[in-house]
Amino acid sequence: MGKEIRERFHNKSKTMLDLKKVRAKEIEDQSSALNYFNPTKDLANKLHPVYVFTKIASIVEETPDIRTYRLVPDFSKGTKDVPTFRAGQAISIFAEIDGSTITRPYTLSSSPIDALQQHYWEVTIKKDNNGFFTPWLWENWKVGTEVKSSSPFGFLYHDYIRDTNEIVAIVGGSGVSVARTLARDIIQNDLPYNCTVLYGARTQADLAFKDEFDKYDKESGGKVKVTYVLSDEGSKDWSGETGFINADIISKAGDPAKKTYFLCGPKAMYDFLAGEFEKLGVPKFRVRQEAVGSVDITKYEEFPKDQIGKVYKLTVTCGNAHVDIEAKADESMMTALERNGIAIPARCRGGECGFCNSLLVKGDVFYRPDAEYRRIGDLRFNHIHPCVTYPLSDAEIEIQLVQE
Ligand SMILES: Cc1cc2nc3c(=O)[nH]c(=O)nc-3n(C[C@H](O)[C@H](O)[C@H](O)COP(=O)(O)OP(=O)(O)OC[C@H]3O[C@@H](n4cnc5c(N)ncnc54)[C@H](O)[C@@H]3O)c2cc1C
Ligand code: FES
Repeated sequence: MGKEIRERFHNKSKTMLDLKKVRAKEIEDQSSALNYFNPTKDLANKLHPVYVFTKIASIVEETPDIRTYRLVPDFSKGTKDVPTFRAGQAISIFAEIDGSTITRPYTLSSSPIDALQQHYWEVTIKKDNNGFFTPWLWENWKVGTEVKSSSPFGFLYHDYIRDTNEIVAIVGGSGVSVARTLARDIIQNDLPYNCTVLYGARTQADLAFKDEFDKYDKESGGKVKVTYVLSDEGSKDWSGETGFINADIISKAGDPAKKTYFLCGPKAMYDFLAGEFEKLGVPKFRVRQEAVGSVDITKYEEFPKDQIGKVYKLTVTCGNAHVDIEAKADESMMTALERNGIAIPARCRGGECGFCNSLLVKGDVFYRPDAEYRRIGDLRFNHIHPCVTYPLSDAEIEIQLVQE
């Protein structure tokens, strides 16, 4: 018994009988929950809360179809601060749209120091007119809108053991978030590695953060260099690189043997660059790329074309509960679940993180060939990642629901 507790009992009791009564009363008054401060648990909850509740503090129009949203903690929902992260990590945003419960991952375009010292995150989002979430977001996200997300996750960050100290961030479209956070992190922390950004866009008007990148390029003493590569700009007021980022442009960034390449952009960019890296003799372990979340599966050569437009019965089991839903062959099982308001844990939506891991009880499926990250045990026991699995017959899966 600690000194403080001993004194508390003794002050209230003169005899042994008193002490027994006081003790019994103290025990009765305690709740059944353990009521002590656990610093390890407290830190884990601060760094990795299941949900982070924020509000939009500001919105910046970076280009006609790219916006940066600043998110600050929503105290009213219990989030006291935004967790810090490694530059290059993403959060998964949750939304309810017309009965669908969906998630979408977004790289944090602000820096870890912005989170630690200024208490905000930023996400930089490109509108996809044919998409589902972003057109809705354009209409609905205003200053003050409440946003629910996961804590940061993902592996596309610089690691001193794994990566060289010269990184080349090759980014296109919305992938600019990765270049911005890496550059900002290096500058704000004066980190002992440098970054060359090769930023591909269609025209000058499509370049986000150009002023910020130009400033780093000019003032960082070579720690951050930026080259813009414009595919549609042949005009006389553009004297920079044109076309696509290719082996020639990559080699101008310096000796490939000394570099680690970070790629973030559309799938077509990854497919094209794979050939360019081969020409340069860059080994695969020196090329790190962001997961590809959203794809049109019908464009995959391996996808059986006679399945396009087919709809199957998907039996979804969770514990003792079963429900039958309709699932299109050319949409992932995760999308089928979301359309029916069934939320399963998800982060990357590209097969990589394993959060959505589920059991395929029966049925034929198409598994996205470029998203095969399952462990041997998962393969052996028929586990799938529904975000990259497409039904090719009636099927049954066993899922876990998200934690509320
Ligand atoms: C790790 C990672 C980081 C990313 N970072 C960024 C970033 O920083 N900035 C950025 O702009 N993008 C980023 N992305 C891409 C982003 O997550 C989205 O894919 C992108 O914003 C497009 O979303 P969208 O819903 O508009 O389009 P899509 O995801 O292409 O929307 C179409 C999808 O919605 C489904 N759908 C259609 N109707 C419904 C319905 N009723 N219910 C449910 N689903 C339906 C369709 O089947 C289709 O699969 C990142 C992706 C990954 C994997
Ligand atoms: S959400 Fe990451 S593997 Fe499915």
